[in-house]
Amino acid sequence: MRPLVLESLQTRAFRNLTRVDATFGDRFNVVAGDNGQGKTNLLEAIYVVATSKSFRGGKPGDLVGFDEELASVRATLAEDGERRIQSVGLKPGARLVRIDDKRPPSLAAYAVRTPIVVFHPGEIVLSMGGSAERRKLLDRTALYVAPSSMVALEGYTRAMKARQKTLEVRGPSAAELSDFEALSVKLGLEVMDHRARAAERLAASATSAFEKIAAPGLVLRVAYAPSAPSAEDAYREALQRGRVSDARRGSAGVGPHRDELTLAIDGHAVRGVASQGQHRAVTLALKSAEIEVVGTARGVRPILLLDDVSSELDRARTVALFGFLREQRGQVFLTTTRPELIDTGDERDTRRDFRVEGGVLSSS
Ligand SMILES: Nc1ncnc2c1ncn2[C@@H]1O[C@H](COP(=O)(O)OP(=O)(O)O)[C@@H](O)[C@H]1O
Ligand SMILES: [Mg+2]
Repeated sequence: MRPLVLESLQTRAFRNLTRVDATFGDRFNVVAGDNGQGKTNLLEAIYVVATSKSFRGGKPGDLVGFDEELASVRATLAEDGERRIQSVGLKPGARLVRIDDKRPPSLAAYAVRTPIVVFHPGEIVLSMGGSAERRKLLDRTALYVAPSSMVALEGYTRAMKARQKTLEVRGPSAAELSDFEALSVKLGLEVMDHRARAAERLAASATSAFEKIAAPGLVLRVAYAPSAPSAEDAYREALQRGRVSDARRGSAGVGPHRDELTLAIDGHAVRGVASQGQHRAVTLALKSAEIEVVGTARGVRPILLLDDVSSELDRARTVALFGFLREQRGQVFLTTTRPELIDTGDERDTRRDFRVEGGVLSSS
């Protein structure tokens, strides 16, 4: 896989990072700082310049510093020896992306240029929580496998919103409902197709990662469970039949917005039966699958962002995590309140240390 390195980063009025001008190492970059200083904001800036979006969700305006009108993030990236400059300008309601000062053909084209995977402390919801986080994992991965999946998903979401609004405002016999439903079905089937392909790759990779992380003999199975019929007519009829109850409930009972990625260990659903340690192992297996699938799809080693590594001082987790990181040979950005606990082992030479205080980043 080709190496990918974020060599330098500049921020202007990005949250509390008023003005960062930093150069980074191509392996471990450890960013230390107390709570509330800007560690997560720094990883977020890197994620935004890589993908145009934040891993925290929210709107472009949230990223602009208080009392500022515009924010920007700019980075120099080297992929297999070739350099490019990516930048994202942000203001309420808008983002403007550029690669080498030119507008890319689409946001999706921008979003897949620099593969990046983030780990944060809340990630265990991938294993323990509801289906929404697992759908996001599927969609993030599908984007790299086929960038057009993002267009299909956005179109599907818009079509279903229009249908729902029509149902609620004009009632279940409104004439335009069948057009919205036909469009939702067409795009919904595309979304399902993209997710099925992403799930297949994730499943194979997560199963083999889990084998290495968890107790020997335990098998993790990951499978895509779509929430709409795969036949167009049956899907359209299901939407039509559901109009009255969808209007009452405020959302549709059928469609990929309800898809699930099922997780089972030795045939038992992970949710409800797995131990805390097993949930961690499942989470790590899913993240490592994300890295592998994204990397393979793009032919590039993804940049890894790890937020708040020592927030939860669990020896076993940290050891598993570092074992895993040493195998990944790409660039890593890691934040912590306790840099002394970050053991990069025999890679000490490749480690660069930074500190962030009140939004100011310095090398230490
Ligand atoms: N839009 C914004 N403009 C300016 N400051 C912000 C903005 N959003 C968040 N902050 C500030 O960022 C700080 C939190 O940064 P964060 O990176 O989450 O800290 P941590 O180092 O704990 O990860 C808080 O002081 C918060 O007030
Ligand atoms: Mg933080």
